[in-house]
Amino acid sequence: MKTLTGLFAGMLALGVSATAVLADGAKPAPLPDAPKFDAQGQVKFVGVGDILEYKALAEYHEPDFVAALEKAGKLPPLKDRLPKEPMVYKTGNMKDGIGVYGDVMRHVIGGRPEGWNYTAGQSQGWGGIDIGLSECLTRTGPLFQVKAAELQPLPNLAKSWEWSADGHQLTMHLIEGAKWSDGEPFSADDAMYYWEKNVQDTNVHPLNGANPGTFGEGTTLEKVDANTIKWTFKAAFPTQVLYAMAYGTFCPGPAHILAPQHPSNSKNTYDQYKNAFPATYMAMPTMGAWAVVDYKPDNIVVLRRNPYYWKVDEKGNQLPYLNELHYRLSTWADRDVQTIAGTGDFSNLEQAENFVESLKKSADPAAPARLEFGQRTIGYALEFNYSANGWGETDDRSVAVHNLNRNLDFRKAVTSMLDRQRLGESLVKGPFTAIYPGGLYPGSAFFDKASTTYYPFNAGAAKAELAAAGLKDTDGDGILNFPKDMNGGKNVEITILANADYQSDKSLTEGVVAMGEKVGLRVIPKLLSGKDHDAARDTGKYDWHVIRLESEAVTAVQQTEHLAPIGPSTTYFHKAGADGKVDVMDFEQKLVDIVNKFIVAKDPKERIALMKQYQKISTDNVYWAGLTVYPGALIINKRFANVAPGAPIFMYNWAEDNIIRERVFVPKDKQSKNELFPDTLPNKPGSAPGEGLVK
Ligand code: GLA
Ligand code: CA
Repeated sequence: MKTLTGLFAGMLALGVSATAVLADGAKPAPLPDAPKFDAQGQVKFVGVGDILEYKALAEYHEPDFVAALEKAGKLPPLKDRLPKEPMVYKTGNMKDGIGVYGDVMRHVIGGRPEGWNYTAGQSQGWGGIDIGLSECLTRTGPLFQVKAAELQPLPNLAKSWEWSADGHQLTMHLIEGAKWSDGEPFSADDAMYYWEKNVQDTNVHPLNGANPGTFGEGTTLEKVDANTIKWTFKAAFPTQVLYAMAYGTFCPGPAHILAPQHPSNSKNTYDQYKNAFPATYMAMPTMGAWAVVDYKPDNIVVLRRNPYYWKVDEKGNQLPYLNELHYRLSTWADRDVQTIAGTGDFSNLEQAENFVESLKKSADPAAPARLEFGQRTIGYALEFNYSANGWGETDDRSVAVHNLNRNLDFRKAVTSMLDRQRLGESLVKGPFTAIYPGGLYPGSAFFDKASTTYYPFNAGAAKAELAAAGLKDTDGDGILNFPKDMNGGKNVEITILANADYQSDKSLTEGVVAMGEKVGLRVIPKLLSGKDHDAARDTGKYDWHVIRLESEAVTAVQQTEHLAPIGPSTTYFHKAGADGKVDVMDFEQKLVDIVNKFIVAKDPKERIALMKQYQKISTDNVYWAGLTVYPGALIINKRFANVAPGAPIFMYNWAEDNIIRERVFVPKDKQSKNELFPDTLPNKPGSAPGEGLVK
């Protein structure tokens, strides 16, 4: 065995830097098991056919006040408002069975509606407003209750589909004879308008980022007839795209209202098109169960039932059961407080800072709301802006930091400087938060511990890795400097973007900043609200980003396109630069190849194997640094019936979709008197707030 001094001398002779050798770099360790925490709701697993079917029923019914309006000649007869074969929800899958009409669900949100042109990227304020207004070709929220063997997106606007023998074509049959909430027919033209003038027209940016790459590069869509569309794919059987046809990437808007405003049909600029339907524009036609009838800035948005809604229960009762939805415009934290207090009806308890107080208050048997924790599906990561070819900011400092981000030693330093135990505890103490190294969440069905590389907290190792990345405090002010040939050897300053609307995002960002300081990195928070945050995220105006991950990290099958840059703008943190190309790194190219294979893999074993490879390569390379993961709880007022048991607040989608609100009802004896516009229906598109309702 060589003596230490001998080894040391040998290394000096080879020119290896002594400091880099003496301090140990980052070493992986076994991932500790998450603290035991049992989800409270028991999911009852079913097949797709147990949930719904499409068929004509012998008779249909509607609320008495709607029947009266129909009788007064203000509405066509119900059977003419419904499609030939409405979607019928099966009673057996409805926890409390056939419901009754009436009442309102009072939501509270921290967002604000920018306007109603979702198709061109306007935010409607989140919290499920858009989920209640838009319907999509397929639907995935309720899949949390579908048996693994039958797992595929639910039909929705597309009531059925079939693949060509070679798997390159997918023909979809849309619901026939359905109408928008203003009575105009819905057809394949609406789907084509969304595709051609919004997704394919890259000057338009639909809200949730649908772009041609979302459906596979080179994919085309054509109209076959009024109710049939046909997809053609480069790959054979890319069954995964059915998930991209759900919320929020294929929910067509009303072409009859939107098309006249599109720049190709008008004098509008793209910006004017996007802003053509401001928040004060009422009754934007929807295929959803409700339409907007009132809006008071910083106060409330009110939605009333859509008399043309195309879904019914098995007795032929037109849905929804609830006549009205409210969206109080407040803060996200207030959503928890109000729902617990009973002045609001629904909250996704997702900010861990509010757990203890909420649990305490809801434990009282007289509490107005029930609270049910689910699996650990809420998680945060630190994402790196990887663009060195001009996506985002291009000044010397930014480019230098992005190049550091591309350096594995640097990323190992960042992951090792993070004390994840402390980060979790800074949100909430107790068995909630768990260590999340990166890649897929530990709670994902595709998660594999053996394929997960975890670099535990070790400030010494972080410092050694920073030195290996060439960073040294050359001017002795305590902050590491770039090497001379990068940004003039100045102090390294890194911007970290986070969403200022959420306490958890802010707390985690603070934690990262403090942990960076301990190892000599100056990290500067860039806390932005709502659409400003989203704009900075989408245009890459940041170096690091603290982000609540989306469905890709839990399900892998939904939002799969976020997992690697399989198209020019499919991942949040690495989009095409000035030359239209994503400057993918070598390991990242491997991730791209894996994701592309996963999308077309039909064999479940192959899919599992591919996600293991994904997990290994992404965590070996610290593709993003996981921060923490924890369970969320659904808080819902006790008067509501038919809330699917075990509905998670987040999985394929948010709980506003998962609980299937159109089937939720309030038994007669528990109904509140909270309807603000009783006995009325949505007004004409473009009416003023609160005015001209049909009565
Ligand atoms: C916001 C909220 C989530 C959920 C979604 C729905 O992101 O934080 O809890 O309500 O909106 O889009
Ligand atoms: Ca310095």
